[in-house]
Amino acid sequence: MPRTTVHVCSQCGGQSAQWHGQCPTCEAWNTLVEERVARPQANGKPGRSARRASGANAAERVAPRPLSEVGNAPVQRMSTGIGELDRVLGGGLVPGSLVLLGGSPGIGKSTLTNMVLGHLQATGHRTLYVSGEESAEQVRLRAERLVSNPAQQALSVPVLAETDLENILDTLAGEAPHACVIDSVQTLRSAELSGAPGSVGQVREVAARIMELAKARGVAVILVGHVTKDGALAGPRVLEHLVDCVLQFEGERERPYRELRALKNRFGSTNEAGLFEMRQAGLVEVLDASARFVAEATRAPGSVVLAAMEGSRPLLVEVQALVAPSELEQPRRVVSGLDRNRLALVLAILARHGRVGTGSADVFVNVVGGVRVDEPGCDLAVALAVASASRGVALRGAPRACFGELGLTGELRWVGHPERRLAEAAKHGLSGVLAPAESGASACQVATLREALTLALPARGEGSSERISAGGAVASLA
Ligand code: TYD
Ligand code: MG
Repeated sequence: MPRTTVHVCSQCGGQSAQWHGQCPTCEAWNTLVEERVARPQANGKPGRSARRASGANAAERVAPRPLSEVGNAPVQRMSTGIGELDRVLGGGLVPGSLVLLGGSPGIGKSTLTNMVLGHLQATGHRTLYVSGEESAEQVRLRAERLVSNPAQQALSVPVLAETDLENILDTLAGEAPHACVIDSVQTLRSAELSGAPGSVGQVREVAARIMELAKARGVAVILVGHVTKDGALAGPRVLEHLVDCVLQFEGERERPYRELRALKNRFGSTNEAGLFEMRQAGLVEVLDASARFVAEATRAPGSVVLAAMEGSRPLLVEVQALVAPSELEQPRRVVSGLDRNRLALVLAILARHGRVGTGSADVFVNVVGGVRVDEPGCDLAVALAVASASRGVALRGAPRACFGELGLTGELRWVGHPERRLAEAAKHGLSGVLAPAESGASACQVATLREALTLALPARGEGSSERISAGGAVASLA
């Protein structure tokens, strides 16, 4: 029997019949991935390159066309019935598209995809839920929990509990659903490769074969994938270039809030994010997130409201900081919901340009609610929260929000969409928003970090609540 698979080095492309820990060609370690050998065409016709070699049939050549002659058939998107998801997808599921939904175990991927199929089924689409992880009974148990939800139809979704890729492809071809969920891509296995389910070769093969079928039949497929501890889409990372859309479901398992982001989207923007809450009866969209976060904000020392942007949507979130004397030689820097390097930068700028030293203190910064704010506009809020925590005084005056990026020379820099941020703050009763210059007349515009600190915090000695904290760091600098 001819060989059906080879092991290909993912660095140099060298091939080998067997698996080796080290590539025999380029000597890189752990780079060999098993792949299927392309089979000759089943209809017995010679391939295109063979025809070309024989010089036959120049008329059959595929000719390029000007873009203006390419038809622009409007994409008929299917609404998933979940507004936040539709927005992140760019307006709904596109037939024939492949969406990779990543997230850590227990975050709610199966719940979300169950709800989507339930809605699609109810709106007259054929659907199929392929579960490689759970038995059909387990899937039913989950669907029952969703019954009090708008996705009541979750129970009418056909389910296939199967891990064999070839069987799944047969069913998929036979049923030809409009939308299909594969939960998860790491549990499927093609019998044509020898690797274990979840190995790079298998994951790639599974996705490629499903894609072939999905594109040919116009099936919208959501591939569910698990994420490793360091946050990468394990195995599925190799699928990122293959699929049309990569969605990441994030949040802390212990907290109810979940955030859905697009990391890649061929049919929409990657700036959008959707916010959900995990409840007893499934995921619920959070539409009034700003109102909740503002109401929950403690306004204690170390608490600052940030007017952030989640893609094209403004969101008010509370940034909290704690600065405490450290016992360690290398004090701790702990962040959640922010980039760690941003915190390091802000602390350095605070020390240099704001006279707030934290060198001998542990610094903890947290974006409340498990939300992630990955944008430069958060700098000022982090700086004010740390300064406020370090001095042990709350922000003064009426509740206010802030935003702005900090430059290395201590200046406050303009960030995108100031008008939307200001409008959101005004809507929730926060006035005098501290913002960079040229942000808008309604803002309290400041040019430097020093100026912002002066405006936001009570003068040293003002009021009685101030205490010297952080191991005397403030006292020695003042
Ligand atoms: P699940 O969708 O199974 O997560 P994933 O597929 O990403 O691994 O859901 C995970 C958690 O959500 C599970 O611990 C139970 C909880 N949950 C609810 O709180 N309410 C619900 O209605 C459902 C279905 C699940
Ligand atoms: Mg699951």
